[in-house]
Amino acid sequence: MTLSNSPAAAPATPLTQDQLKTLVGQAALQYVVPGEIVGVGTGSTVNKFIDALATMKDQIKGAVSSSVASTERLLALGIPVFDSNDVPRLSVYIDGADEIDGKGHMVKGGGAALTREKIVAAQSDRFVCIADESKLVQTLGAFPLPVEVIPMATQRVIAQFAAKGGVAKVRLKDGKPLVTDNGQVIVDVTGLQITDPVAFEAEVSQWPGVVTVGVFAFQRAQVCLLGTASGVKTLTF
Ligand code: 5RP
Repeated sequence: MTLSNSPAAAPATPLTQDQLKTLVGQAALQYVVPGEIVGVGTGSTVNKFIDALATMKDQIKGAVSSSVASTERLLALGIPVFDSNDVPRLSVYIDGADEIDGKGHMVKGGGAALTREKIVAAQSDRFVCIADESKLVQTLGAFPLPVEVIPMATQRVIAQFAAKGGVAKVRLKDGKPLVTDNGQVIVDVTGLQITDPVAFEAEVSQWPGVVTVGVFAFQRAQVCLLGTASGVKTLTF
């Protein structure tokens, strides 16, 4: 991991987490290539990026979006949204993370959009992660790991995580299992220490009924813009 962009002196009043998200959302604009289509993730940090992207919407063709929520926000701001099938390659994908380690491996899916996020990341040359510094960890696993699962496989997948020492629970919304944009459910797994993210992602991705595991090791970040108390730090991996 390389650190650059030494931040300026710390502001007198510490920035709030929301202000840090705004800072990194705006900083991500430097990675958007004029004249192209940009890959757009999901979440509260990405919402700040989308708002910033609107200021240069006349300089880009549009976006490929990773969720219904991001699509709605992009369209409301007048940014055209393309189907991922119509865009063979994107130069950059901008998205947040729930955790990121010192090699650019991430846990994602806190917003239940992990499957489409992994698809858009896979069609992008570069993943730029935007996050506040609370997301930087030594080892992935403190944040409950989201896994999108086909409903009939839920109990089997929960048992498979139990065999690994994890406790998996179906994510609820309004007292019922949350249904993803893809019509599936999410299980969130606590109690894991993901010391080898590549091997973990490879293994869990093969379990029957797992649509997507929220470890992004194959689609890791190459850059992370980290919002810190003293400004935006750029990590490259
Ligand atoms: C959504 C995601 C988000 O990128 C992740 O949950 C971070 O969200 P936020 O920026 O709101 O903290 O993976 O599925």
